[in-house]
Amino acid sequence: MISSQTPFMDLRFHVQTYGCQMNKHDSERVFGMLESLGAEAVDSIEAADVVVFMTCCVREAADTRLFGQVASMKNLPLREGSPLSERLVAVGGCIGQRDGERLFESLPNLSVVFGTQNLASLPTLLQSAYSGAGKSAEVLERSTAFSSDLPTNREQPWAAWLPITVGCDNFCTYCIVPHVRGRERSRELDDIVAEARGYVEAGVKEITLLGQNVNSYGRDLYGEPRFAEVLEAVAATGIRRLRFATSHPKDLTDEVIAKFGTLPCLMPYLHLPAQAGSDDVLKRMNRKYTARHYLQLIEKVRAVRPDIALSTDIIVGFPGETADDFEATFNLVKSVGYSQVFTFIYSKREGTPAAKWDDDTPREVVQQRFDRLVEVVQESAYRNNQTDLGTEVEVLVEGTSKRDAGVLVGKSPKNQTVHAPLPAGFTIDQLAGGFVTVRVEEARTWYLRGTVVGIEEASA
Ligand code: SAH
Ligand code: SF4
Ligand code: F3S
Repeated sequence: MISSQTPFMDLRFHVQTYGCQMNKHDSERVFGMLESLGAEAVDSIEAADVVVFMTCCVREAADTRLFGQVASMKNLPLREGSPLSERLVAVGGCIGQRDGERLFESLPNLSVVFGTQNLASLPTLLQSAYSGAGKSAEVLERSTAFSSDLPTNREQPWAAWLPITVGCDNFCTYCIVPHVRGRERSRELDDIVAEARGYVEAGVKEITLLGQNVNSYGRDLYGEPRFAEVLEAVAATGIRRLRFATSHPKDLTDEVIAKFGTLPCLMPYLHLPAQAGSDDVLKRMNRKYTARHYLQLIEKVRAVRPDIALSTDIIVGFPGETADDFEATFNLVKSVGYSQVFTFIYSKREGTPAAKWDDDTPREVVQQRFDRLVEVVQESAYRNNQTDLGTEVEVLVEGTSKRDAGVLVGKSPKNQTVHAPLPAGFTIDQLAGGFVTVRVEEARTWYLRGTVVGIEEASA
């Protein structure tokens, strides 16, 4: 056990996070654990004695970035007054899980490796490296603990990520996630509700329920998915805004869709990854739905909540994607009219089935398809934002614009970024974490701008 007498008291640490919300959630636990041991968080690698990388390997770009960054730190001097003779570098998250000790070979300046299943071991691993015991790595196949139980320091005190499941059982043929996050495990409903209640009592305004596929929540515990019940129970805690990510179309039930009509706290925003619009590609991706089924879901959701904002993930250039396949994807994206689309060029991941398949579409053709898709995505994002011109939207204030400290930035119910000049007589510290009403006067592709016409609560 680590006592308060440990060397952590003198250390400054920095956490660099890549990848999805799961990693962001876990990083908040890294902050919480190290701070509770007395270490101090700093904003840059230069100022830190200990640097923790929470890594992602879902696509090649994330992988290469980590290796470049760790290697480039080799000759970076330590800060004056550091108690260490060498900077401690730790790699955790999905690359840690995938590569384990092998990372020490490719990254000689690395001291600690941990995985997605043993976040709680980080302090012990750091301590053993710190106390001169040499490099230490620990990667577990499977854990029974949920990282939510560890101390936390949330990036935004008014918003909380709440994992309801970890891991994934879907094995989409392109995807590394099930290999680095393990099998799907659900948390007990009571634990989820207790955590949500704690957040509400602490003044949290927005909870985002997390899982690789929240819709299959409970299958391992109760034999059937019970996600609709989770929504109902978390809504009953009195949370002001509720969101969730991610939904798998094969498991999105009518019961869950109906909640968009009955739970006022459930924000009108749904991220529903389609991945492709060609049934042949969907089949080879092992997605287990057709484009028709997907479009029917969209219709049902819109029938319940006509103003809902929809977003999706699309992969372009999956092995064997033909011109017709891509056209089907393009048409699906165009016909849905998403508010936001996360477009990815297929990236081969060793260890997944698709990595062995012929992938002979020329790079330029894939890039052209990608560019065409991005264009239609931008058009529909712009069109969607235009429909809000002249309306008043409720904004949860997050901070000020990076370019202009006199402009507040926050999120609308539909998850749009909203900018507005700070109202006279208010500082951002009084408004951050509270709600303001903004009259929308300008609608761009990626944000709305307007004037604050109402202030609901100031946390001064
Ligand atoms: N569990 C979520 C998201 C997981 S990863 C879901 O199923 O929707 C986030 C996104 O990354 C995926 O939706 C997919 O679009 C993309 N992705 C995953 N593996 C990829 C790969 N090998 N190449 C390109 N994009 C990929
Ligand atoms: Fe990956 Fe598919 Fe699981 Fe999402 S559902 S994490 S894309 S395997
Ligand atoms: Fe990346 Fe791991 Fe998330 S691979 S997308 S950080 S689960």
